[in-house]
Amino acid sequence: MNLPGIGATEIDHVGIAVRDLEASVELYRRVLGTEPVHREIVADQGVEEVVFQVGTSYVQLLAPLGPDTPVGRFLQRRGEGVHHLGYRVPDVAAAIEHLKHEGVPLVDEAPRPGSRGTTVAFAHPKGFAGVLVELVQEGPGAPGGSSPAERSGAD
Ligand code: CO
Repeated sequence: MNLPGIGATEIDHVGIAVRDLEASVELYRRVLGTEPVHREIVADQGVEEVVFQVGTSYVQLLAPLGPDTPVGRFLQRRGEGVHHLGYRVPDVAAAIEHLKHEGVPLVDEAPRPGSRGTTVAFAHPKGFAGVLVELVQEGPGAPGGSSPAERSGAD
């Protein structure tokens, strides 16, 4: 029997911080042998992202919109590399409640819009052995949390 948890069903994506987005896109096009499926400026997170699909998961190249952004500061501190891991969950609000219950520090106390029309929340690396974690729900979540009734209505 599984313990209750965040309810992750898959790895949604791996976010990789890069300095030169176009050069990295070209590199990933060649090594993965596939074209990117999505490009988006996420002003809220201070990044431009380009996304490649691998099976049902994604690789997300992230370039900062400026030095004083989370990814900009990450690049200055750590250089290029894996920035965060995205877990796909059926209900971000419920996953947040679970992490609060477990005492895991959160970056986002409530769900917010992510890229690709998703709903997301970030959890602090302290709760995941040093890895910044993004909870990703496909589609718009119920604003301000969700109850089973609201969810079935939104489906
Ligand atoms: Co992400």
